[in-house]
Amino acid sequence: MKIDVLTLFPEMFAPLDHSIVGRARTLGQLEVNYINFRDYSTNKHQKVDDYPYGGGAGMLLTPQPIFDAYDAIEKTRPRVIVTTPTGRPFTQRVAEEWAREEHLIFLCGHYEGFDQRIHDELATDEVSIGDFVLTGGELAAMVMIDATVRLLPDVLGAQASHEDDSFSTGLLEYPHYTRPADFRGLKVPDVLLSGNHAKIETWRREQSLLRTHRRRPELLEQAALTETDKKFLESLRD
Ligand code: 6GU
Repeated sequence: MKIDVLTLFPEMFAPLDHSIVGRARTLGQLEVNYINFRDYSTNKHQKVDDYPYGGGAGMLLTPQPIFDAYDAIEKTRPRVIVTTPTGRPFTQRVAEEWAREEHLIFLCGHYEGFDQRIHDELATDEVSIGDFVLTGGELAAMVMIDATVRLLPDVLGAQASHEDDSFSTGLLEYPHYTRPADFRGLKVPDVLLSGNHAKIETWRREQSLLRTHRRRPELLEQAALTETDKKFLESLRD
């Protein structure tokens, strides 16, 4: 996969040099390029923003530097993702969709945002990472890149898997334990030491349902639930 990031702050992206995304780049599974669209400004002071027509607070990113930076990217049919708190929510489903693409372009907003013509002409996806406002789109772009890249084939280690991840199944993931079985008197649930795989599966499913019921009950509306799941949830409500 190739990812081009249009940003005024390429140095903010150091986190993508490390850990799993960093390794994917070293292994050639992923190419990431940063393009500072200020470099494309034809203004003698390399200005990239201006006052909004109609008045109001703040500055807007102007079309010229961004359109010219976009035009300079070699591309066939890329997705162009604009980061904005007014976008549709980024979710695991969106990450799964993007992970099937060959080329993503991220456009990181700043100030009060973009001139609308940038949204209208360039964006294929306008996406937000949650109901809060960040100072700029860079952190949001990194979050989305991380969530997408870990889904690429062979990026996670061989035994690691994302099929059980929270949200992949529509439910929150169950709790995990490792050694020791007794840490300062804090015991691992007996069932996990039992060697009974059917019982362990049942316990994990119930823990997922319980957690989702308590923390994110709205997810249960969309989850694929069996009759057994529904009976268990009924028993919680009683
Ligand atoms: Cl994508 N950008 C900014 N600036 N703020 C956000 C966001 C994006 N998602 C949530 N808040």
